[in-house]
Amino acid sequence: MNVYDSARMADVLAPLGYALTEDPAEADMVLLNTCHIREKASEKVFSELGRLRQLREQREARGAGRMILGVAGCVAQAEGEEILARAPFVDLVLGPQAYHRLPEMVARLSRAGRAQLDTEFPAEPKFDHLPAPGPRGPAAFLAIQEGCDRFCTFCVVPYTRGAEYSRPVADILDEARALATQGTVEITLLGQNVNAYHGEGPDGATWSLGRLIRALAEIDGLDRLRYTTSHPRDVDDDLIAAHAEVPALMPFLHLPLQAGADRILKAMNRGHDVDAYRRVVDRLRAARPDLALSSDFIVGFPGETDREVQRTLDVIDEIGFVQAYSFKYSARPGTPAAAMPGQVPEPVKAERLARVQDLLNTQQIAFNRRCEGLEMAVLFDRPGKHPGQLVGRSPFMQPVHVTAPERLMGTVQRVRIDQGQPNSLAGRLVETSDGTLPERASA
Ligand code: 5AD
Ligand code: SF4
Repeated sequence: MNVYDSARMADVLAPLGYALTEDPAEADMVLLNTCHIREKASEKVFSELGRLRQLREQREARGAGRMILGVAGCVAQAEGEEILARAPFVDLVLGPQAYHRLPEMVARLSRAGRAQLDTEFPAEPKFDHLPAPGPRGPAAFLAIQEGCDRFCTFCVVPYTRGAEYSRPVADILDEARALATQGTVEITLLGQNVNAYHGEGPDGATWSLGRLIRALAEIDGLDRLRYTTSHPRDVDDDLIAAHAEVPALMPFLHLPLQAGADRILKAMNRGHDVDAYRRVVDRLRAARPDLALSSDFIVGFPGETDREVQRTLDVIDEIGFVQAYSFKYSARPGTPAAAMPGQVPEPVKAERLARVQDLLNTQQIAFNRRCEGLEMAVLFDRPGKHPGQLVGRSPFMQPVHVTAPERLMGTVQRVRIDQGQPNSLAGRLVETSDGTLPERASA
């Protein structure tokens, strides 16, 4: 979501004359778009700010003009005042719901010469004030839903991103069409709880995610759709049916489980037990037999025992994930779990994480190996490290390295997988019967 938001901030600032640069030393403005989900991400902000302050001083010493320094995102939302106190040299502090007001903040900064803070949740959603997206490349994000009403006891999102909001269908279709016109082939629909989507349709009815996906699949040039992140409780029949019926919906799903012990899931307020998760997965796999699953896991939640970690390992083993993210529980200020008894010592968390990651890595490598010899539809979305090479993404989100001409960038091609590596695949283009390369294959 932060990648999407950053791109939208660039869209908002473009009319003021700002363009993106890879080199912060050259930047007239640096915005740190921050994440508050775990303490480590949060703490990085202050060390990064220190570094940027030095860059700014060097730049000013060169006579290159002042650098505006801003902090955006969820750390700004949660700790705006603290940022201004700890780093008084910062010019702009804005939460994730305020970035449409960047031009106004920049204007006020130059008028008043004082730092500007905006962490309001405006009554008018920011999406109403954002320009059409600029070019994003072959694979792009599109936020359709934001915020979360689930209140998992470990999670800051409901506090930093606010209550669930679903964008109207017409807005989403417009943004998707604009992306497709500019060459985007694959869209990943985003939301903190994306399958809780319930947006207003052009017909006045409330549309579910399944219905929205069917409408998006009709857009010319959009060959591939994905959505993330979903909650197991909000997978409805219509969404499952979409997995069976919409070929553009890719056979890869990120469906966080968090833990494998029912007692922990309950303490996390996830609203389901392991068996309910298993049933959702069974139904999804019945609809789309080649569906590959990804997940999130937290180890060291307060009160977690060694036996309960074993439950997590057992469930991972049973369900099977082709990739996953796993984290040490991080106590977040203001969340219920931070005040729970039985906080787990860091070294114990580290040891548990190593065990969980070990198993997840083994599963990921095994899946990548199983892909050897298969033919897959690969969307080339970036240049490779070596000349003459392109990197694409498989239907299952694996990066695929292929020797391919530049002109195939942004197209979907059939690729034969030669080698499954731990984090990627290597393959070669499948030639047509007359020996030429196909210009475009379907997803
Ligand atoms: N500690 C560790 N991991 C967390 N996540 C969310 N909050 C925390 C926390 N306090 C993880 C969850 C979620 C992912 C986005 O981040 O696994 O699914
Ligand atoms: Fe956080 Fe996801 Fe739970 Fe919402 S559903 S509170 S975003 S972990």
